[in-house]
This record gives sequence, structure tokens and C-alpha cells, in this order.
Amino acid sequence: MRAKLNRIPLFSLLLAVVVLYPGSGMSSLVKSESEDFIDWWQHTVFYQIYPRSFKDSNGDGIGDLPGITSKLQYLAETGITATWLSPIFQSPMVDFGYDISDYRKIQPEYGSMEDFQQLIDKAYELGIKIVLDFVPNHSSDEHEWFKKSAAKEPGYEDYYVWVDPKIDEKGERQPPNNWQSVFYGSAWEWHESRQQYYLHQFTKEQPDLNYRNPAVVQAMDDVILFWLNKGVAGFRIDAVNHMFEVESLEDEPLSGKTTDPLSYDYTRHIYTKDLPEVLAMVQHWRQLLDDFSSKHPKGPTRIMMTEAYAGLTTLADYYEDRQGVRGSHLPFNFHFITDVNGDSDARDFVYNVEKWLIYMPRGGHAANWVMGNHDNPRVASRFGPTAVDAMNMLLMTLPGVAVTYNGEELGMQDYRDISWEDTVDPPARYVGEKLFKDVSRDPERTPFQWNNTSNGGFSEAAKTWLPVHPNYKKLNLAAQKLAAKSHYKVYTSLMELRKAAIMRRGRFIIEPISRWVFAFKRSYTNFDSIVTIINVSDKQQLVNLSEFLNQPKKLVVEIAGVESAYEKGDSLLAVAFELNLPPRGGLVLSERCSTAMSAQRRNLVKQLIKSAQVVLVAFLFYNLWRHKWTKVKINQQRF
Ligand code: GLC
Repeated sequence: MRAKLNRIPLFSLLLAVVVLYPGSGMSSLVKSESEDFIDWWQHTVFYQIYPRSFKDSNGDGIGDLPGITSKLQYLAETGITATWLSPIFQSPMVDFGYDISDYRKIQPEYGSMEDFQQLIDKAYELGIKIVLDFVPNHSSDEHEWFKKSAAKEPGYEDYYVWVDPKIDEKGERQPPNNWQSVFYGSAWEWHESRQQYYLHQFTKEQPDLNYRNPAVVQAMDDVILFWLNKGVAGFRIDAVNHMFEVESLEDEPLSGKTTDPLSYDYTRHIYTKDLPEVLAMVQHWRQLLDDFSSKHPKGPTRIMMTEAYAGLTTLADYYEDRQGVRGSHLPFNFHFITDVNGDSDARDFVYNVEKWLIYMPRGGHAANWVMGNHDNPRVASRFGPTAVDAMNMLLMTLPGVAVTYNGEELGMQDYRDISWEDTVDPPARYVGEKLFKDVSRDPERTPFQWNNTSNGGFSEAAKTWLPVHPNYKKLNLAAQKLAAKSHYKVYTSLMELRKAAIMRRGRFIIEPISRWVFAFKRSYTNFDSIVTIINVSDKQQLVNLSEFLNQPKKLVVEIAGVESAYEKGDSLLAVAFELNLPPRGGLVLSERCSTAMSAQRRNLVKQLIKSAQVVLVAFLFYNLWRHKWTKVKINQQRF
């Protein structure tokens, strides 16, 4: 009996260790989404909706807010949890919403404020965050601020950038300097009644606001707060690096790139772009968002994503400057749009990825990769239609945030044959009938192809605002949902895969495997690794992964493109890690951990340990009860 009693404290100690050990028996840094410390915006996919072309609900040929609301369920099914909308505010539509005449009103052809509220409510019900486009650099010339400013109404005189003319040798009036508009021609427009020039970095109907005037800063802060109070999760900030110009108004130096003095490329924009004041403004907005988030902790962290086609170091400073001041949550990384194309080889892609990861600061920041938007040709046009799956695999399996444009889930193609008569994009109209195809953004803005009914199911109108790509009969969502293999199915599998903890927290390496193939791996101790392999050439490639994966283990196909010979679940062990990639094809594999315990197996062990704990506790109580009972008996015997 004594021997038995002595074992109880020892046993209790053992039990305490098992019960109190962190992670209930197995330590695991990453267990589930709710338990790791990645905030929503650090790993999400931002799906850009171009409202004018997404879904028309009232048959006027123009997409609208109720149309978007009706398709939110589709986004949810696809796995999208955050979307950013191109501008939906009141606008004369010279630049299709990027010329805003009232920052607090909804464009009537898109719907009403009630429609907006319904959209927000439905989105939140489905777990989708809505991010709006904030266009601070310029308003429309129809904004009341501009009208008041032109009339020199007190308080509004300096809302915009007004400058006296230069008088040349002939005594004629000239613009103050050689600055050009991004969209071609002088950046200065003469205003007859005010008798001054005003600055416009984009169309002349988009006058630049003057952020050296504190009243303008305040007015735009109020706009931000207005929409935050309506429940948006943040903003994509348009053309942010154009917000300040030097006050000295010096001529910009010639670039030597073109002899056309009206082209934006004629000069180097050292006095009109990327001025240090921009960073200060971005940091000011960050403060505003952070303050709002802490005052409204029930909502998600409110975030900003900034649009600036700028150098790496400038963008890295947007994240966090030398003093450690944080700015943009996500300074858009456009390098997949600007720095690689269908002629790039594996080294170009690897370099493209590495340079961002090297330059972006550490400590709570997230990488981001923009694969497309409404200003640039679609993936199918930049890399070729067969590259769609591989580019989506690349985008979705890299670490950090993916930014994707509506229609890319189907591999929609630019409609390059839009006639001059049907062309509406302002820069295309400016350069004229001969050159418009070189610059027009209409081809990537055509309506979403939902199905094979008229207008691709986008609208019931006789004519849509831009023609629907005639390939809609074959290339549409409904067909891709039905097909055994489709771009859409690859895309949704990628969205599903992104939920895995390894995709949020996995360490990252990337290497060229050959001139045409590169691979990267996400790995995390005790988890199966994810390996993505991309062939960027237009020829089939035989790849041997044994050098990249230095201790070859079992490889299993997770996601294969529509052209691939492989299927999900295929094991590559038998073929000595050699695999075939179709032209511009990709594969996503999992590399099963064999040396260490995989996360899946670890979960099983955890379950077993939990059950064992229950049994042990029961056993302990049983022993304690018996111990007490025995003691009583012993005592009874003593007395
Ligand atoms: C941004 C928008 C573009 C617009 C321009 C002027 O670059 O993405 O569509 O034309 O700003 O607002």
C-alpha cells in the first residue's frame, strides 16, 4: 500500500507537465489563422473590380453597384475576401471616374448611396472587405471647389495650382514652364476668367489640387473619414506620387527619349513627381487610418494601398522611412507589369521577385505583387494566353499579398480590335486615330464575360459602353465552371491553397532551375513545403528538381494548369524528380516532410495526446479517491 501511495505525487507531476506544456503536448508556432499574428491585409488577395465593366443591373450598358452586389456571392465562392473598387463617385466621366466632381456622392449611373450601403452590408455579411479608390491628386473641373477657386472665392483661391503666364519675346502668353501631362501635351491650361494657368498632370478636366494649402489637406482628410464611417476597410490611393511639384516651377531636364516635346517621356520628371512631401502626406494618412482603427477596434485594421510607378527605394520608404515612420501598408509593386514580359527569362523573373524582397523593410510589413489592373494590358496579352495559369500560380504562391484584376481568373484577353469610333479612353483620343492603339486602355477594360448569352451576360443593353470581347462565347465564367479543367478552377484551387498556414508564414527561397524555368519554395519546420515551378518559355521544358530540392523527398502535385499532363494528387517520386512543363506552364507541388513530422500528422498526434490527457486526469482522480479511501481505512484501523 505504501509503495502505491508514494507513486501518486510523481504521477501528478508527470500529469502537470503534460497538461501545462505549451501547445498541449506539441509545440506549434502556427496552428490556425486565428492563432497566428498575421493581420488580414498582410496575406489577402485584393480583387480589383472595375465597376463600369463588372455587371450592369439596369440595362443601360454600364456596370453599376447593384450589379456588383449581385455578384458578391460569386466572389465569396471564388474565395475572395477583399476587393478594391475603381472610383464610384460623382464624375463627368472624362477619365471614367478618376475625375471626381463630388467626393461624397455616388455617380448616379452607378446607383445611390443606399445601393452603396447595401453593397457594404452584403459584402461584410459574406466576409468581403471593401476598399475604395481615393483620388487625391486632382478633382474634376466640375467640382465646386474648382469653380470657387477659379472665381477666387474667399477660402478657395489656392485650392488648385494657379500660375501667371510667361510672356515670350513676341509678347505672347505662354505656359509657365515645359511640364507635360501624363496623357500628352502641356500640363498647363489657360483659364480665361481667372486669367491664369492651372496645373493638370492628367487631362485638362482634372485640375491638380494644391496640397501646400492646409485647407485642402483638411478637406481631403474629411473625405477619408466620411467613407471610413460608412464602413470601408481602406483605400487604394491614386497617382499619389504626382501630388506635389516644386514651387520654383523650374523647367524639367530633357530625357533624350523622344523628340516630341508634347510627350510625357520628353522630360525627366524630377520636379513634378516623387517629391519628399509625398511621403509626408502618405504618413499623415497612415496616422489618420491608424487613429480610426484604434477608435473603432471592432472593425478590421483600416489600410491603404498606394499607386506610384516609382523606384524601389522610394517605394520601400513608403512602407517605412529611415526614421522608422510607417506609411503605406501596401505600396503597389508593379514589377510584374513593368519589368517582365513574354520575352523575359527565368533569371529576369527571379531577379524581379528578389529585388522587392530585398528592399522592402522587415518587421510587420507584407510583400505585395500586382499582376494586373485597368491601366495595363492583361496577363494573356503581356505573357501570352497559355501563361494565364502559371502567372496566377506565381502570384498566389509568393509570400504576402496578391493583387489581381477582375477577369484574370478566367484569363480574359484584351480586345485589341476596338475601333477608333468606339474608343473612349482619354489618352487614346489625345494621340489620335493613327496612334491610339499604342496607348488605349480600353482593350483591358471590356465587360466581364459571365456566360455565352448576349453581351457575355454583362448587360441586356443593345450597346454596352465598351464592346464585349467577341471571344465571350467560348471564354466565359459559366463555361469554365462546367469544364473539367479551366483557368477558373486553377484560380479557385490557388485561393484554397492560400488558406494553408504555410502560405501565410512559410520561409521563401527562389532560384532559376534553368534559363527558362524557375522554382520557389515555401517551407516551415514540420510542415509540408509548397514548391511552385514556372516555365516562362514558349517551349515544353523537362525539369529536374533534385538540385533545387537538395534532399529529394516525396513530391505530390497540388495544382496543375489546364495544359498540364499532371493531375492533382500525382506523385512524382517514381520519375526521379524529373517533370515536364508545357510551354508557359506551371505546377504547384507539395513536398512531403519525411524527416520531421508533418503538420497533418502532428495534428493527429495532438488529438491522441488530448485523449491521453483525459484518461490520465480520470486516472489521477481515481487514484486520489482510492488514496483517500485507503487513508480512511488505515485511520479506522489505527483507532
Ligand atoms: C491612375 C489611374 C488611371 C487614371 C489616372 C489619373 O493612374 O489608375 O486610370 O487615369 O490615375 O487619375
